[in-house]
Amino acid sequence: MRLPGAGAALAGCALLWSSCLQGPGANPVDPFKPAQQALGERIFRDPRFSQWFASHATGLNAPPTTGDPTVAVAANAAGPGLPSALAGTAVACAACHLVEQDALLDGTRMRAYADFARTSPVPDRGDGTAGTARNSPPMVDALVARPGPVFLHLDGQFVTAEDLIASTFTGRNLGWLPAESGAALHQLAHVIRGDDGHLFQGPDSSAMSYPVAFLAEDSRILPRLRLPAAYRLDVFAASDAQVLAAVARVVAAYMGGAALPP
Ligand code: HEC
Repeated sequence: MRLPGAGAALAGCALLWSSCLQGPGANPVDPFKPAQQALGERIFRDPRFSQWFASHATGLNAPPTTGDPTVAVAANAAGPGLPSALAGTAVACAACHLVEQDALLDGTRMRAYADFARTSPVPDRGDGTAGTARNSPPMVDALVARPGPVFLHLDGQFVTAEDLIASTFTGRNLGWLPAESGAALHQLAHVIRGDDGHLFQGPDSSAMSYPVAFLAEDSRILPRLRLPAAYRLDVFAASDAQVLAAVARVVAAYMGGAALPP
């Protein structure tokens, strides 16, 4: 995985460039990611794809009035007595894969896509599963091209980034039981189609809704935020499965492991 989150954090402290995250002699990091990575990052941080949000939210574009207790715990807090950076939200990819959420300006408490727990808590769905089998690993460069086959998760559960992403969005880590994968797919497509661009924005999203971002035709879209053709989709004309595939492509691009779609 590249270090996309570092770019995000740097965008917020560009004036303190040398004191933010880069040590002496480090290569400069471009604070502006390509459009597909910026969109992928926003989706990576968006908790609305979770089962908790689907069952508790008062509206797709309304902030939740309470938060999923799963993310208000120590796994997402930088130390004893410190608050969880994600309290009041729900499980997104970024709940277990933290970047700058808890970081101080000097870079202390910066994570490299790990959280603070030995195993990450998952939402309580009454099936006896309280957490992940293993810890959330640091993931910088996890997806860079290398010789030989790709094996993701320690046991090689997934062999492509897109498969891992699509399965995780519709799976237990986001609170969905195995029998609920259809509801999970529906929720994902529902959020992508219904988003108005105002909640859970990524650092570069410019309040652009997901449908506008994926269609990439609006003349007001900044050139650097306009998706390349290979990532575009008319989410209203597409099936739910096609929406999920498009989401997996941009999230994989954010994580630096994307092969361009055919
Ligand atoms: C509830 C916590 C949790 C959530 C939510 C979560 N992950 Fe993970 N992730 C983990 C854990 C734990 C591992 C390590 C799994 C293993 O090795 O068995 C992992 C591993 C990974 C890896 C593999 C790294 C490697 O080197 O093999 C990737 C990539 C990844 N996650 C991406 C995502 C994406 C994208 C999402 C959102 C769709 C997501 N994760 C949501 C906990 C989580």
